[in-house]
Amino acid sequence: LVDEAEVEVFSVPSYACQRRTTLDNHNTVLTDALSLLAENAELEDEEGRGVAFRRAAAVLKALPKPVTSMTQLKGLPCLGEHSLRVIKDILDNGTSSEAEATKQSERYKALKVLTGIFGVGAKTAARWIRDGIHTLQQLRDSEHTLNRAQQAGLEHYEDVNQQVTKAEADAIGEIVEKAVLSVLPGAQVTLTGGFRRGKLTGHDVDFLITHPVEGREEGLMPKVVSWLESQGFLLYQKTTRNSYLESKEGPARPASNMDRFERCFSIFKLTKDDKHGTKQPEKLSENGIKAPEDTGRSLTHVQTDPNPPTPSCTMAQIHSSKDREHRSWRAVRVDLVVSPISQFAFALLGWTGSKLFERELRRWAGYEKAMSLSSHALYDNNQGRYLRATSEEEIFAHLATVKVASVQKPL
Ligand code: GTP
Ligand code: MN
Ligand code: MN
Repeated sequence: LVDEAEVEVFSVPSYACQRRTTLDNHNTVLTDALSLLAENAELEDEEGRGVAFRRAAAVLKALPKPVTSMTQLKGLPCLGEHSLRVIKDILDNGTSSEAEATKQSERYKALKVLTGIFGVGAKTAARWIRDGIHTLQQLRDSEHTLNRAQQAGLEHYEDVNQQVTKAEADAIGEIVEKAVLSVLPGAQVTLTGGFRRGKLTGHDVDFLITHPVEGREEGLMPKVVSWLESQGFLLYQKTTRNSYLESKEGPARPASNMDRFERCFSIFKLTKDDKHGTKQPEKLSENGIKAPEDTGRSLTHVQTDPNPPTPSCTMAQIHSSKDREHRSWRAVRVDLVVSPISQFAFALLGWTGSKLFERELRRWAGYEKAMSLSSHALYDNNQGRYLRATSEEEIFAHLATVKVASVQKPL
């Protein structure tokens, strides 16, 4: 870094994974605008444009000081023509007209509201908008059939779109640990995702589960889910079994970024008491309706609203804010993943994120090191073999070994 120049010119390595990531962002006005444009591109299902804006935002986030002039950005990586235009607009006028216009646009607002429903992606939202649906009420009034995930997503919309705190994540962690240890003593639960990176809030809570003896983790997820369901902790869950062994492709090259671990995407019912300890959830909700532990089924269909829903809106009981204040629980998105111990380090690295860090790390490993990294394994293309690792440090040590002549260490 140039220290005492007239105009400080910044320097940042090309790949996000080569940078020290900080929670201390000196350029929030710039990164907010670029992140919004990235989000909009993702909502429009334009992944490439989304990644370009994300990379640009990440570079600015890594700068040690606020940007005051365009000349400081000379030579910085990942700042394309479009991103530079946005930055210049903000430096000249205080705001980005494009970001502001996007924020105000009906389409952006509708895409954001609809994809805010758990289980609804950009494609589904775009289809609904084409049918004239822009709001939750319009969706509820429409004839559209929702799948089970979307029904739960609509039902718990407000909660799921409210940030999860670290305290809530820890409370969920205690519940998950209790569930896991009840069905498999000796198993280990690790908090991953944004909270492991030190974030104070998140959109969900992510956990990685393993057992020190290889193979003992097999079939664990259904047991954990049954335990959680029997205790009334799950409002929704969908478990996907491990497909790693069946996959035809090399393990380090899954068809997409999705890995093949046994996983469970869920919505937890966190009672207020659970936030302060590990108290059992209430057997009865405030209005006296039995909680689901007595039904042995998912909570999806259990109504806590005292007014029975009319058949046309059973899928969409959204509690008003007032009701929510009086409730003794909230819904929280939780992701559970089970990994065999032999792949644990890779799974931990893969599920800790951020998404951009993971993408960049894999890109860097491929281009600069000729290695294929996934959440399952690290494959050295030059040696033609898999490299074992029992910790993230060992994975990074493998990656740091110089094997390719053209490796460049950007300053
Ligand atoms: P917040 O939840 O908003 O705090 O951010 P986060 O970083 O925790 O994001 P998220 O929970 O979406 O994902 C956590 C990490 O898991 C990220 O690094 C993702 O890349 C990774 N991840 C999420 N879904 C999948 C998946 O289906 N497969 C794999 N391999 N990784 C995933
Ligand atoms: Mn997360
Ligand atoms: Mn997640």
